Amino acid sequence: MKGIVLAGGSGTRMYPLTLATSKQLLAIYNKPMVYYPLSVLMLAGIREILIISTPPSIPALRALLGDGSQLGLELSYAEQDEPRGIAEAFIIGAGHIGDGDSALILGDNLFHGSGFPDLLRTSRQRLDGCTLFGHPVSDPERYGIGEVDAAGALVSIEEKPLRPRSNNAITGLYFYDNEVVEISRSLAPSARGELEITDVNLVYLKQGRARLERLGRGFTWLDAGTHDSLLAASQYVQVIEKRQGVRVACLEEIALRMGYIDVDSCYRRGSDMRNSEYGRYLMEIAETVA
Ligand code: DAU
Repeated sequence: MKGIVLAGGSGTRMYPLTLATSKQLLAIYNKPMVYYPLSVLMLAGIREILIISTPPSIPALRALLGDGSQLGLELSYAEQDEPRGIAEAFIIGAGHIGDGDSALILGDNLFHGSGFPDLLRTSRQRLDGCTLFGHPVSDPERYGIGEVDAAGALVSIEEKPLRPRSNNAITGLYFYDNEVVEISRSLAPSARGELEITDVNLVYLKQGRARLERLGRGFTWLDAGTHDSLLAASQYVQVIEKRQGVRVACLEEIALRMGYIDVDSCYRRGSDMRNSEYGRYLMEIAETVA
């Protein structure tokens, strides 16, 4: 399975913060935002990842993450010059996806909860068509919404419904089989001029091949697309990290624990950043695991 992080968009909702930088490079507490979605793909066992962003943002993302070898990943980059819709990721990324399955994650989504790596692994294994991940929200009219029947089967999907049929938001993490590329190519732009991910999901739903994996209430899903949600995400990460002494979305730690890099590489990365708490944490982790 190949991964895609969609980290484009015009960022106008975040002005003036995003006048000179990409939203996905802003800080969620102590790390760049893009670390959080990238960590999810890494936890899913995905190592070949395409990062899609706007032409001006790609040099900075490349400076931050490089070719990914320091994390045991193969990272590549592609441009989306205008925000023509989330589903365009599969058209831009068709060459990267090749003839296999793919996972897409939005660059401003944060997931955190126990058992997540296992859930990702089993969802990959059970993939037949598309798997969406749902999480309850208090403001369902802001999201793609999935309605399930008593047996847990997905029966309807609506994008930002005025009268939501459920409070199950469809999060910005999506697993698809290879058909997603052809489906995305066949879409017409919506009224707002975008290739809608919800339209892709509706095709799978009609085929009876869309599943909604519900993330329970012990799980946290946040998106950081506004000033308030960015602050809330930072505060969330700060509380967890300070209270528990662990790190959320520490990419080198994940790479070490997943076996993508060895102890020495992790230690060296930490040592390069030893003036920061992050760097010292990496050195400690490497010493603990060694
Ligand atoms: O966060 C989950 C929600 O994401 C889903 O529940 C919705 O079904 C889905 O449509 C999407 O809704 P948003 O209103 O949050 O989408 P937005 O246009 O804000 O785009 C989400 C992220 O994707 C944002 O960080 C920018 C990036 N993006 C978006 C578009 C449309 C791109 O990189 N390129 C694009 O063309």
